Amino acid sequence: MRVLQIMGIVLLVLPALEAVAQTNDGDVERTIWDGVYVEAQAERGASIYQANCEICHAANMRGGPGARGVVGLAFQFLWKDKNLGELFNAMRTKMPPGQPGALTDQEYVDVLSVILRGNGLPAATAELPADRAQLDEIFIIWEKPPH
Ligand code: HEC
Repeated sequence: MRVLQIMGIVLLVLPALEAVAQTNDGDVERTIWDGVYVEAQAERGASIYQANCEICHAANMRGGPGARGVVGLAFQFLWKDKNLGELFNAMRTKMPPGQPGALTDQEYVDVLSVILRGNGLPAATAELPADRAQLDEIFIIWEKPPH
């Protein structure tokens, strides 16, 4: 009798555990740690940054008297738990001040790549796309995930 009861409990619990595992799998989010840009793209972004952004945000990207930094803790605090689509959109609708949209979407996303590199995020083999919907799916988390 006891054995049957235990078996019954196991049979009830197993599918539940499986369901939990599947939900967790489905929930795995893409983050800025997943290698979301390529090195060559960040290089392109560096030239664009130098020509259009450096005068205010500084060559080392840490900001200056006229503008805050786009690398470092204060920047990271402001953007944590947002996604790359939001950051991309803030750049193209506000920067450079007085001339938002002066760059192409491709140029903005290339600059976004060099900003990620400047914040210590790894490069990989797929370019960061100049596409708001796809960028919306990449979450900004500054602590390196364990996996
Ligand atoms: C004329 C000076 C100037 C130039 C040039 C400039 N910025 Fe800015 N930027 C600012 C100022 C001032 C702010 C803060 C005001 C604000 O957030 O609206 C800012 C804010 C930002 C932010 C938001 C930072 C945050 O933490 O909220 C980003 C990202 C940014 N700039 C990127 C760029 C990029 C990329 C370029 C080049 C395409 C650029 N900026 C060019 C002055 C400048």
